[in-house]
Amino acid sequence: MFKLNVNGKDTEVDVEPDTPLLWVLRDTLGLTGTKFGCGMALCGACTVHLDGQPTRSCVTPVSVLGGKKITTIEGLSADASHPVQKAWIELDVPQCGYCQSGQIMSAAALLAQNPQPSDSDIDAAMSGNICRCGTYQRIRAAIHRAAQSRGSA
Ligand code: FES
Ligand code: FES
Repeated sequence: MFKLNVNGKDTEVDVEPDTPLLWVLRDTLGLTGTKFGCGMALCGACTVHLDGQPTRSCVTPVSVLGGKKITTIEGLSADASHPVQKAWIELDVPQCGYCQSGQIMSAAALLAQNPQPSDSDIDAAMSGNICRCGTYQRIRAAIHRAAQSRGSA
């Protein structure tokens, strides 16, 4: 049995110690916003925050999570009001959408650490998030939009 804090709530899960966090989120807790892409830390679709740090949940075993705060796309805001989510909607970023919760989680972590990122900062922070639909230009524009709205808030 493992104690976890997910999106601000304490919970317990009865899984094997090497179970990846991704499957705990999706299969045990029903939080299916976090996606499976590669299972090898190569695509970023499974990105969540651990104590605010963007983390590949597909290669993170549940046994290392004690005491850490886990945030998924469902916990980023209660009503899609996070500046990154609002910018994503305003600029109509997603195409198929599959990669986008991971993109948003990486973007939110970037802005929490660097409120006004340059293009190269964005490219460096987002390089591990692959989009097969090629929405990279809109992602970059939306991160700048979110940075502006945070700065003027
Ligand atoms: S599913 Fe985790 S990085 Fe691809
Ligand atoms: S929007 Fe389709 S993979 Fe990124």
